[in-house]
Amino acid sequence: MPISQRLGRLGNGVFARNDRRKADYRQRISNVQDGQEPLPALLDLSLGSTDLPPPPVAIAAMAAALGRPDSATYCLHDATGPFRRAVAAWAERRFAVTVDPEAEVLLLVGSQEGTAHLPLAVLNPGEAALLLDPYYPSHLGGLQLACAEPRFLGLRSDQGWRPDFEQLSTSQWERLKLMVLGFPHNPTATVGDQAWVDGAAERAARHGIVFAHDNPYVDLALEGEAPALLRNPLWRRCGIEFFSFSKGWCLGGFRLAFAIGAAPLITALRQLKGVVDFNQSLALQAGAIAALEQAPEWPDRIKAIYRQRRDRMTAAMTAAGWIVQPPSMALYLWLTLPPVAGSACLDSEAFCAALLRHTGVALTPGNGFGVVGEGWVRLALVHPIEELEAGAARMGRWLRTLSA
Ligand SMILES: Cc1ncc(COP(=O)(O)O)c(C=O)c1O
Repeated sequence: MPISQRLGRLGNGVFARNDRRKADYRQRISNVQDGQEPLPALLDLSLGSTDLPPPPVAIAAMAAALGRPDSATYCLHDATGPFRRAVAAWAERRFAVTVDPEAEVLLLVGSQEGTAHLPLAVLNPGEAALLLDPYYPSHLGGLQLACAEPRFLGLRSDQGWRPDFEQLSTSQWERLKLMVLGFPHNPTATVGDQAWVDGAAERAARHGIVFAHDNPYVDLALEGEAPALLRNPLWRRCGIEFFSFSKGWCLGGFRLAFAIGAAPLITALRQLKGVVDFNQSLALQAGAIAALEQAPEWPDRIKAIYRQRRDRMTAAMTAAGWIVQPPSMALYLWLTLPPVAGSACLDSEAFCAALLRHTGVALTPGNGFGVVGEGWVRLALVHPIEELEAGAARMGRWLRTLSA
């Protein structure tokens, strides 16, 4: 069967590999016979898919719109006008920036979809694009699908994960056509700084590079203020910023996001998407509009819950034998492998596999986010605090058996 070389380049993503291991673990649970010791239930902390509810007004708006005939029809770009206007009004309130809803806003099927499609819209095969390392997996996947050449800007924990743009020479900058950054940053759980995004925007403008800023966590900084490309007027010259309803409004399964960017970039991405999808149903868009207009406080509410989870899990994981740098954004802990993993010669993937087998707790191995991620794991704070603490205790008991 012919399969493209493009797919060969993609390989199996970290989330797919984890999914298989979780399925194996569930199978082991169901194979336990009467009289055998039961296995602990699976505690899945490997995905940034929250247990917290979306705003009821958003769900009510979707429900009310579901039965309308136009919710069931294909939704071409023009019909997304009310959504785009609601986004422009949000941008005005949130960043005091005036955005043209006709030319500078695009509805997306998740920011993952948008960031993965962007390279196909702006790059020719073989052209170079810069990613952070660690990166969000679809940022690399999008480049691979576009047959582009990834370059990496390695982040370092001893520099607070700050991107050091001086690492690249002028000629390296001049070869780039696209650069993808995202602060607050997944997986390092670092909010970042507006100066970092401004520095990237200036370089992008100077060297004629498209600057994509992936910002689904813009409302989820636990310390300080999240940066945004929209705060820098250069976005209109060379930038596009991606926002999502998945994190701040807990609507991940509904696949709703949007891009705001320079008109030619929005036009290019829209043209590309015209080939691959029609837009999300008007019923889903009604829920997104309600979230923006009637539940703007929702991200702040859930932030308070994540703050408590972060603080309590920092303590619980420290007690369980991990070294924890408290993160500055919601949703994740980014953890170095505990010292016993090194003594047992386990890399991040082998460690996560063994951890799942012995404790039922699923984390994401850092190597799935790039070379720099090796030696790290990501834990998502997506269960109630009691379950998270019980998971930390389970992991602690297993770590003690390793060091015994
Ligand atoms: C940096 C980053 N971009 C994109 C996504 C995907 O978001 P969405 O649900 O909007 O596709 C995630 C999800 O975890 C993410 O962390």
